[in-house]
Amino acid sequence: MNQGKLFEQILNPANRHNPYQLYAQLRETPISQQEDGTYVVSSYREIEALLYDPRISSDERKSTRGAGELVARQVSQEPGSIQSFLFLDPPDHNRLRRVVMHQFSPERVEGMRDRVIQIVDELLDAQRNRNQLDIVDDFAHPLPVRAISELMGVPREDRSRLEVWIPPLVRRLEPAQQVSETQVEQAAQAAMQIRDYLRGLIAIRHDRPGDDLISALVAASHDDTGQMNEQELLSSIGLLLGAGYETTVNLIANSMLTLLRHPDVIARLRRDPDMVIRTVEEVQRYDPPVQFRTRTTLTDINIADVTIPKGATVVLLFASGSRDPARFPDADRFDPDRTDNQHFGFGRGIHYCVGAPLARIETHIALSALVRRLVNPRLVADPPPYRELASLRGPKHLAVTFDDLRD
Ligand code: HEM
Repeated sequence: MNQGKLFEQILNPANRHNPYQLYAQLRETPISQQEDGTYVVSSYREIEALLYDPRISSDERKSTRGAGELVARQVSQEPGSIQSFLFLDPPDHNRLRRVVMHQFSPERVEGMRDRVIQIVDELLDAQRNRNQLDIVDDFAHPLPVRAISELMGVPREDRSRLEVWIPPLVRRLEPAQQVSETQVEQAAQAAMQIRDYLRGLIAIRHDRPGDDLISALVAASHDDTGQMNEQELLSSIGLLLGAGYETTVNLIANSMLTLLRHPDVIARLRRDPDMVIRTVEEVQRYDPPVQFRTRTTLTDINIADVTIPKGATVVLLFASGSRDPARFPDADRFDPDRTDNQHFGFGRGIHYCVGAPLARIETHIALSALVRRLVNPRLVADPPPYRELASLRGPKHLAVTFDDLRD
């Protein structure tokens, strides 16, 4: 197939259930210019080099060509929009990230462990007297939503509103050509509603702080170092909520799907529960939720015999790099015994995932419980139906039948 049309194929929902053949074709040209002017980077070495390259920006407003320029225009259409640090470059990125990392500490995350175990048990207990569950709707979706809401201190009665507002915003992570005018308007509307809601919550936590993360961030933003203004506080809280609502669901669902296709690994996990740690890392390499992220070039960049011009949109195809046979032996094989497994599942470099420790705790506990408690689990449909998004990829539903539920 014409290399310049491969990314269009990847975006096509018809290929969502298995884009990996298309990635292999793309890797024949590690950096390939698409017909819309986007540069797609598909090989491990080049993705890694660019993730550490300061000439690459996460700020889509700096794009001046092709699809990225469209995003830049879309973003500027959103009145009062503020970019979270996922979309910022140093020095602002580093300043805001430092404040968040300081409060989203390892102790705070570890403190969630017992609560996550409880939530997982409650969700599975609710499946008693049934023989089929939807891993996505009944389990993988409610778990991270509850966990991040409790960690942040979002009152229970407000969560359903956030669940309506967050998906249109997350959609904006898709390449611009995938986002219609109406969806841009919906995202702008949702952004406004979240901002208004969070302003109210911040005021409450300012007057009556709790031991939640929003209270901690509010306090940190008001200390005399002046490291975060009100807008930045809002966007950082919004980012944590959005990232916590929409990614872990896919890691749990992708993991369960992979395990159900490899029942020998389920049997091994029952005998050796500690293996869950390596198993989840291997899913992050083999079938990760974040398939790609985009960047913009700040100058012309020469790499792998290609000159990417300044202002171009660059797609870093993480999921392809993690399947690159030049980096991983037998890269298309799911092998939880891999030890050399530096995947791109949580990114790399200055934007490395802030929530990785929480996502790992949730997924380890979730998978361990599913494997231990479901007796003889079987997939109802293979492949399952997929969610529409190409960048945050995962099943829409994952129906599983089982014979019994252990205590
Ligand atoms: C399985 C679940 C998750 C996956 C696969 C994941 C993946 C990623 C990836 C690949 C990036 C890098 C983006 C880039 O380079 O442009 C990232 C960044 C980020 N993630 Fe996650 N994430 C997950 C869960 C979470 C959770 C639970 C939170 C917070 C509660 C979170 C918060 C963030 C933040 C704040 C960033 C931006 C970091 C920065 O720009 O410096 N993530 N994540």
